[in-house]
Amino acid sequence: MTKQLKAGIFDSGAGGLSVVKSLLEANFFDEIIYYGDTARVPYGIKDKNTIIRYSLEALEFFKNFNIDILITACNTVSAYAIEELKKQAPFDVVGVIEPGVLAVTEKIKNKNAHILVTGTNATIKSKKYTKLLQEKGYNNISEKATGLFVSLVEEQIFGGKIMDATMEYYFNNIKKPDALIMGCTHFPLIKNEYQKFFKDTVLIHSGEAIVQYLKENFNLTGKYQKTNIKYFATENPEHLKEIAKQWLFDDSKILQENKCQKF
Ligand code: DGL
Repeated sequence: MTKQLKAGIFDSGAGGLSVVKSLLEANFFDEIIYYGDTARVPYGIKDKNTIIRYSLEALEFFKNFNIDILITACNTVSAYAIEELKKQAPFDVVGVIEPGVLAVTEKIKNKNAHILVTGTNATIKSKKYTKLLQEKGYNNISEKATGLFVSLVEEQIFGGKIMDATMEYYFNNIKKPDALIMGCTHFPLIKNEYQKFFKDTVLIHSGEAIVQYLKENFNLTGKYQKTNIKYFATENPEHLKEIAKQWLFDDSKILQENKCQKF
């Protein structure tokens, strides 16, 4: 890939902005087309066939933009639809699960280490993370569906009593992991809360993992000073815009280096 690089980012809603944030910091792309299926979020409670159908519809959308690579920021899509998307797409398609697992292999060398995978109900049910981790030799893996965190983040609740109670509810009986996969677009936004609950645990963030993966597998370098972003939502783009402002553009570095072109 030598010309100006254009990436499509697909998520079930606004959560994929956490991955966009990492991509913006990496300066990999000249242009990003973001598609959030806000009319049908959450995907994490839907079944496999529905997730694949919605993903193929998103693929049709991206075919209009002459993108070089499609990144499925959504873990749920990455768990169920990545093979089908790869089969049908005329461009490269990368999910977040394989990069997340590679990030574990880079950070955790002990194969007996306790790895905790968190995600939506659908992602956990797919066992995709666990299978890939087992293929890499890890043998002490636990999984926990933690879908309430999606609702909390959607409600802009990033801490406080409800968050503490939800952490307690999900993790009270879980032995402290050596590494924890935040296997959902929304979870990096409550990274501090995870870390508060599990001190010293290594947290794996999909956005950071994909940046590393793109560097290693696509030889991408941070050569763009500015990334133009076009956001598209299947419903209520104004809400997506508000969230993008709060999650992405709050950061003064990003505000200077990247202009939000269009919603
Ligand atoms: N984007 C989804 C994921 O990363 C979380 C929200 C949803 O359930 O659609 O799995």
